[in-house]
Order: sequence, then structure tokens, then C-alpha cells
Amino acid sequence: MGISRREFLCRVGHAGGFGAAFFTMQGLGLMAPAEAPPRLDTAPGTGAGVKVAILGAGIAGLVAAYEMKALGYGCTVLEARTRPGGRNWTVRGGDRITLTDGSAQTCNWGRGQYQNFGPARLPSAHTAMLGYCRKLGVAMEVEINTNRSTRLENDAANGGRPLEQRQVVNDARGHVSELLAKCIRRGALDAELSAEDRDRMLSFLRTYGPLDKLYAYTGSERSGYAELPGAGDQAGVLRKPIGMDTLLDENFWGAILFEEAFDMQATMFQPVGGMDRIPFAFAQALGGTIEYGAEVKEIRKTAGGVRVVYAQQGAEKPLEADYCLCSLPLVMLRKVANDFSPQYQKIIAGCTYGNAYKIGWESRRFWEQDLNIYGGLEYVKNGPTPVWLPSGGLFAERGVLVSGYGFETADSFARLSLEEKFAASRQTVERLHPGYGKELENPVIVPWNRVPFNEGSWIASYGPGQDAYSDGVDPGYEQLLQPDGRIYFVGEHVSHIRAWQEGAARSALRAVQMIGERERARRA
Ligand code: ALA
Repeated sequence: MGISRREFLCRVGHAGGFGAAFFTMQGLGLMAPAEAPPRLDTAPGTGAGVKVAILGAGIAGLVAAYEMKALGYGCTVLEARTRPGGRNWTVRGGDRITLTDGSAQTCNWGRGQYQNFGPARLPSAHTAMLGYCRKLGVAMEVEINTNRSTRLENDAANGGRPLEQRQVVNDARGHVSELLAKCIRRGALDAELSAEDRDRMLSFLRTYGPLDKLYAYTGSERSGYAELPGAGDQAGVLRKPIGMDTLLDENFWGAILFEEAFDMQATMFQPVGGMDRIPFAFAQALGGTIEYGAEVKEIRKTAGGVRVVYAQQGAEKPLEADYCLCSLPLVMLRKVANDFSPQYQKIIAGCTYGNAYKIGWESRRFWEQDLNIYGGLEYVKNGPTPVWLPSGGLFAERGVLVSGYGFETADSFARLSLEEKFAASRQTVERLHPGYGKELENPVIVPWNRVPFNEGSWIASYGPGQDAYSDGVDPGYEQLLQPDGRIYFVGEHVSHIRAWQEGAARSALRAVQMIGERERARRA
């Protein structure tokens, strides 16, 4: 892997670091509360007579256009594709996926089946996005990110037999609690704990473990049953705990803690029918503001503003504006002739993007119908992972699952042929659910580094040898926060909520605010 699964989880987790700060700010009253897009401190009419060129109709561009139109700006959104959304891309039956390597796939899924190959979940904390969903009337449902019935499988542990998350989570807790209780009772923590706290800790561990009267972990209904309880004499038979040695062999700590990352915690949401309901709702609200099939070729600075040249239906067209909001992925800007200052050129030349991919399959919902598993994430140690079961359409006959959501350059995966990738993806389901791999049909892969107009999944670094997800000041990021003359950069890469739609939305709101202040100052 380019970066390991563990690192990936950590990176996603890093967004949680910002999340914590975000809540602190909210507590201090610096941000709008939940369920509404943040309020802009910009007077209505601020944009009267001011023209804005917005590059890209992804979430950042759509949010910017939506807010600026309301403020009276004259907005034009240039979008290279024939649809809004950018990375917010829902694939359905009949859709064609054409990649930069010249390959093409046709999605053959049945009516009503879909997969969100870009963003596929919205945490409760992402109040800007949820606020827009509410405001635009996008119907929402729960996205099941956490499900104790989902499975974990490691070829090298437990004879390759999968375990349920409920066993791994609860048996690990039980064993750790027993070990800690032993330490306390042997006096190993006497220097750290007062006599009173020792008793209170032991009492806590009894509940937390749970431990028996002798402070032993002997299993728990939390880990599930070998035979379920029922009526009459069916009292139920508890499972025997999995030994700590086996759990250490399984080594699924990142997987079971994934749900604890701040922005992965329940309750999470998705629009009913596909994530692209959000950009389509924005696009409808924006009327004719978006020019589709408009590929940006040049971004120039002029005496009083900007001139963008774009290609549309074989013709090159100029767009003059007072300001430009540029949401194009930084790697795509390498292909655009521009007048950016050297410090921005340097970031554009040196930055890197992740190359996440997802593989989707249509199938009978065997996981629901035969195995009693409804939504959630399942992990294997070897091969594409995780399996992401659909949260929408529960109890329907068929559904689309993801088997493999990782980085394309990961270990040997990138070297596989398409057929080998699909075979590995099918094998993941077979490992987790023996006998069911053969039920998967109509695979589709979306490798974001080969998707035209993106060529990457999300920002990975703002310069050579740097990591956009490490702590501390990142000079490249700090630079992008400042406009280059009248050009403002927006998108997830101009936020601390990287790889999330919320980051894109908040970066756009920030730029709209900055332009509003600049206009106010100019008119004062
Ligand atoms: N935000 C991305 C996800 O939810 C990385 O998977």
C-alpha cells in the first residue's frame, strides 16, 4: 500500500482532531449551531454589480454559488462534466465510467441500485452539509457505519474463520479488564491509586469487563450466543470467549476502533437514493448558473479582476469576472495555463493526492437474508478491504456492496489486472462469508487517480515529503488560505476537514466571507 490501512484510518481519524476544535469553537459561539448552514456576516446585496467566476461544480463551487447568488453576486459556475457534484458521484445502472487510461466500464446494475463512489457518509458533526440538506429538502436516512454483527477475518488467526465484531470488541474488553483487575488486586498500582480508588476501579471493572465475583472474565452476552435464547426451555447458550492470544493474532484494533474516530461516530447519515441528491438539489436551486461541459483552460489575472478561458462544445470562450473561486483539484491546475504567483505554482507542482478506489458489486442481499447483518463495515487482513454493506434499501431483494475501499497503489494491488482486482475483491467477501463470493455480480471499480477531472481522491500533501494529515503548521496549506490577488482557492484541500464534503463547504463559506469583507472595505 502507498499508505497502510492503519495509516489510512489514522489519517481519517486526524480529521477528528479538527472536529474537536470545531466543537470548542461552537461552544464559544463562534459558529452557527447545528441544523443550519453557518450564517455569513455579509449584508444582502453585497454582491450587486460584482461578477464571480466559480470553477468547478463540486460541493465547494455549489456552496459558493448558492451563497453568492443570494448575496446578489453575478455568478457563473464552470463545470467540465455534464453533471454537478465533482467527487460526489453516485453510479447507477446504465452509467458509463471512462478513465484517463482509456478504459471504460458500463454499470449493469438493476433499477434502483446505486453506489456512492465518492463521499458516502455524513457525520452528525458536519453541520454545514446537514444544514444544506435540510434547507434544500434532501431526504436523509441513517448511514450504518457501525454494526456489531459485521465480521473480521485474518487468514493467519483462528484458522481463517471470521469473527463477529461483537466478539472481538467485547472479549478484548473483558480480557483487558481482567488483567487490570489482577494488577490492582496484586498491588501493582498502589502507587497510582488510593485505597478508595482501588475499590472503585475494581467495581468499575466488574461492570466494564464484565467480570465475575472473582474478577475473572468468563464471557458475556455482549459477545453473542452459540445458541440464541428463545421460548420454553431455550435459555440460550453463550459463546465461549475468544482467547486474548487469538485476539492479538487477529490484530484488528484499527478496524474495531474506526467507529471511535470523531467523524465516524454514530449517528451518520446519507441522502436517500444516493449522495448526488445533494449536488442535484444545489444545481436545481441555482437554475442556469452552471455551464456544463465547460473545461477550464486558462486562469488569468487582469487589471481589475480575472479572465478565465474555457472550452465548451469545441469553442474557446472567455469569462471576465471581478473574482474567481477556484475549486479545481490542485493536480488538475497543472494542466491549466495560469498567472498564479510563484508560491502557488510551487504548491500546485509539488502537492500529491491520494488514490483511493472503491469496488462495487450487485448481489442478492445474502448478508441480510441469510446472515442477519444489516449495514456496516467488515474487514479482512489480506486483500481488498473493507466490505461496506448498504445502509439504504434494507430488506430489499438486492443491493450493492463495496468490497475494497483502499488506495490503488497499496501493496501489490495496483499491479493486478482489472479481472484480478475483481477476483481479489470477490475473495474478500468469500473470506468473510464462505460460500457467498459467487453471488456477486456486475463489478464496477472507480479508481480516483484515473478519473478524468480529478486524478486523485483527496489532498495527501501540499509539497514533497510533507503529509497533509500530520500535526503542526503546513506552509503550503497556510498559503492556500490566502487569495492570490482576486483568485480564492476553495475545496476540501483548503480546510482542516480534508477528504470530507464539510471541508469543501466550509472553505467556500470562508472565501465568500472574505470577498464580502473586501467588497465592504472597497465601498467604504
Ligand atoms: N471522508 C472519507 C470517508 O468517509 C475519507 O471515507
